[in-house]
Amino acid sequence: MAIRLGDDAPNFTATTTEGEINFHEWIGDKWAILFSHPADYTPVCTTELGTAAKLKGEFDKRNVKMIAVSVDPIDSHNGWVNDINETQNTTMNFPIIADPDRNVATLYDMIHPNANATMTVRSVFVVGPDKKVKLTLTYPASTGRNFNEILRVVDSLQLTSKFSVATPANWNNGDDCIIMNSVTNEQAAEKFPKGFTQIKPYLRTTPQPNL
Ligand code: BEZ
Repeated sequence: MAIRLGDDAPNFTATTTEGEINFHEWIGDKWAILFSHPADYTPVCTTELGTAAKLKGEFDKRNVKMIAVSVDPIDSHNGWVNDINETQNTTMNFPIIADPDRNVATLYDMIHPNANATMTVRSVFVVGPDKKVKLTLTYPASTGRNFNEILRVVDSLQLTSKFSVATPANWNNGDDCIIMNSVTNEQAAEKFPKGFTQIKPYLRTTPQPNL
């Protein structure tokens, strides 16, 4: 069954390149990104994991832990890590789950048989410290993901979890935000001391409140 926003992120235990984990315990009080790739020793996946490793500092700043998964066994992951490091000019710095029994892939509905019967698609799940699913993304095997976009979404998710704002199209950290329609103008004047602009009664903007 597909996982939807707001659902509990299914828990599991798994073997990873950094040892055995219980997913929820591994997340602890942080945010997590669980993302699947179709297969080890494939070109797009190699660039994706290398790119994610290079951005780990940015994810750390946001209290986000990353973990990758595919149905390949642990020996394959361990060998492939050397290729990621060599070709992507990085050092792998987050775990990869070995899921040959498809336990995680099944729990998270990562195998889409009409795309490929045996490989996981490029799924992304952002999980909050409350272990609820905050974001799902699904990309085909032929399209590598944009990890800067995942960082951008994390910025929005973390901001909107604390303030009564939403983020507009193409928003980036530092840009003005949209005041939720559940907030009256009187409340907005209190909540947003930097002020707000009413473009329409349903479209009000305010400088990003946490800066
Ligand atoms: C890739 O990572 O390049 C890839 C993996 C599976 C199918 C197609 C491409």
